[in-house]
Amino acid sequence: MIRKENFSIGVLTSGGDSPGMNACIRAVTRSAISNGWKVYGIYRGYEGLINDDIRPLTTESVSNTIQRGGTILKTSRSKDFMTAEGRKKAYDNLCSHGIDALIVIGGNGSLTGAQQFASEYDVPIIGLPGTIDNDLYGTDSTIGYDSALNTIVECVDKIRDTASSHNRIFFVEVMGRDAGFLAQNSAIAAGAEAAIIPEDQTDVDQLAQFIGRGVRKSKNSSIVIVSEAQKDGVGGAMYYADRVRNEYPDYDVRVTILGYLQRGGKPSAFDRILASRLGYASIEALKEGQRNVMIGIANDEIVYVPITRAVKKDKPIDRELISVLSVLSI
Ligand code: F6P
Repeated sequence: MIRKENFSIGVLTSGGDSPGMNACIRAVTRSAISNGWKVYGIYRGYEGLINDDIRPLTTESVSNTIQRGGTILKTSRSKDFMTAEGRKKAYDNLCSHGIDALIVIGGNGSLTGAQQFASEYDVPIIGLPGTIDNDLYGTDSTIGYDSALNTIVECVDKIRDTASSHNRIFFVEVMGRDAGFLAQNSAIAAGAEAAIIPEDQTDVDQLAQFIGRGVRKSKNSSIVIVSEAQKDGVGGAMYYADRVRNEYPDYDVRVTILGYLQRGGKPSAFDRILASRLGYASIEALKEGQRNVMIGIANDEIVYVPITRAVKKDKPIDRELISVLSVLSI
């Protein structure tokens, strides 16, 4: 149990910004301060740690931020932190500010960096899952995923107006890198006709399967949500749209790539609550002496997952979701 009076923590956001990161920074800051700890904001992720862009945070620093998307601490994908020299500078800067522990809010790459750092230097690190991709093992949801999902569904509802007015097939490409959580669940929530996700890649040609189901015979338009994962060097939506144009020229095809629209915007209430719970739990975890764990939520309970386990890129997608979509989209 940590009881040090003048304990100091640093908090940073890293990798892609996600809605709810500010709510999480706020929760970390205020929970730490309520224990009498000092809090440092580290700006631009690991870049700021290496370049000493580190400033104290107060309760006021995080006022009026819970509702804002993006990250007030700014973020980066740091190449320098991938080098031993960069990590040494980062460690020296932590020491010069007297920072005793680090809270890293980010996705897979950011937590992998945290793990590497923790294996080289004696710094307790707590990881908090901040990414719209929802691809970290051990947590049911990551901060930002629910907001992005809601944004996608809102956009697809609008696209459907045009799809049905013109009898068109729309391929809507969504983010998620090589994970299909956003694609699969937005397809269910928006009533799409199909989702094409990396986790469901088999020898079966997903396009032929979709066309073969005769969707166009019973419906006059269709929406297919495609994960952004690249196929033959192009994004999923372009790849499948080009194939339809070549192989099924009778169909009128359009593509919408939602891009950064889906990463920005206000966090949903779900994400604000998740971020607040996880941020608060990160300080409780440090008090318990936890280190090098990611804090997640499983079945509505706070869980500690070794960072090494969280970043293995093997979070399974519930196969039942695939059945739900295919049955409900007939
Ligand atoms: O990890 C979040 C994410 O938005 C992915 O879904 C996407 O592939 C990637 O970041 C894009 O990263 P960047 O904005 O650095 O190009």
